[in-house]
Amino acid sequence: MEVSVENSEIRLRSIADGLCSAYPLVWLKNNCQCPECASNTSGARKLVIRDLKFHSTPVDYRVSSNNEGDELYVKWDDGHESTYGLQWLSVRKFNGGQQHHLEHQRRVKWTAETFSSILRSFKYDDIIKRDDTLLTWLDSLATYGIAIIKDCGLAENRVKELAERVGFLKRTHYGETFRVEVNTDATNLAYRSSYLQLHTDLPYYEFAPGVILLHCIVQPENAGGESETVDGFYVCELMKDKYPTQYKALSTIPVMWTDRGHDNGYNFHCVHHSPIIREDQQGMIKRIKFSEHQRDSKFPVTLNNVHIWYNAVEKFVKIAYDNQVMSSFKMKPGDILTFDNHRLLHGRKGYEGSRLLIGGYLDWDIVNSRIRVLKSQLSDQISTTS
Ligand code: OGA
Ligand code: ZN
Repeated sequence: MEVSVENSEIRLRSIADGLCSAYPLVWLKNNCQCPECASNTSGARKLVIRDLKFHSTPVDYRVSSNNEGDELYVKWDDGHESTYGLQWLSVRKFNGGQQHHLEHQRRVKWTAETFSSILRSFKYDDIIKRDDTLLTWLDSLATYGIAIIKDCGLAENRVKELAERVGFLKRTHYGETFRVEVNTDATNLAYRSSYLQLHTDLPYYEFAPGVILLHCIVQPENAGGESETVDGFYVCELMKDKYPTQYKALSTIPVMWTDRGHDNGYNFHCVHHSPIIREDQQGMIKRIKFSEHQRDSKFPVTLNNVHIWYNAVEKFVKIAYDNQVMSSFKMKPGDILTFDNHRLLHGRKGYEGSRLLIGGYLDWDIVNSRIRVLKSQLSDQISTTS
């Protein structure tokens, strides 16, 4: 490895393949790994920006090897000494957001035709007992936005148990868990037996829950109560491709989402303004918010934008309904359907007779954290047994 200092950066050039990576001096100084500058348990930075010497320069630097692997040694002009493992540096390369793109590519989009091939199925007991199955389930959820868990039994605390295998439930004003059944006292239209439009849950929350868990306890034996769903990211991609102007309208014109009513004696009035499609800073689709029942008639935008928005949403809805998975897909008692509430739109057919689902939510922050922890634990296990 060759080391040089150029343009306020330390450059490392591999002699084997000639590949070069550059690390700004200010970043290296701010990310010194010595116990004075970083916690030796979590790696968290102790050196705060207020105390950072922004223009430090190296008076000595070299790459050397020790029994922990190769490392870059730097002695700074204030006398401070830093060492950085080359492996540690290599996963922190400045590559203009490629990592971000890889995370997006991990999501495999699907259609009604490919649905049966992407829908992964797991057994409840395996998820409860085996960390590798838990990880595969969560990975499938992240990749396809949906997965089903079978043989969960009919105990009403299963959703909570499952959530606790991951982390903890996200409570909402419908409770820690909620019962989807006919309840004419509740204001939510999901608590009727009628057809339920394609939607995402709780669009009127700024931080809408990321994952929905629906445990089927009772399902009518006759026709009715089937689930309908569509990969909203596929819908958005198609829109972006075929109707870019309308896509732009749906990703920029804010809608007023509202939920006003009561549930179990609790009164609520939630309001959140957001476009249907949310993009991240890099223009990638980040999440969808959509529910006809919870779109307020108040629409505080310009007159012109009202016309533009209706023209765009007509296309969005047509693409969504044209591509939905329907009828063929009916949860059975003992199934828990798990899906990404930021990505899929879901609904259900109307029904007659009794039906009961127990629902609960998880946040993606907690799911992603669990995925990282499991990956690291399982790879440690593999490396210690091999
Ligand atoms: C809901 C919902 C689905 C169903 O309660 O928000 O989407 O199958 N329910 O009843
Ligand atoms: Zn729903």
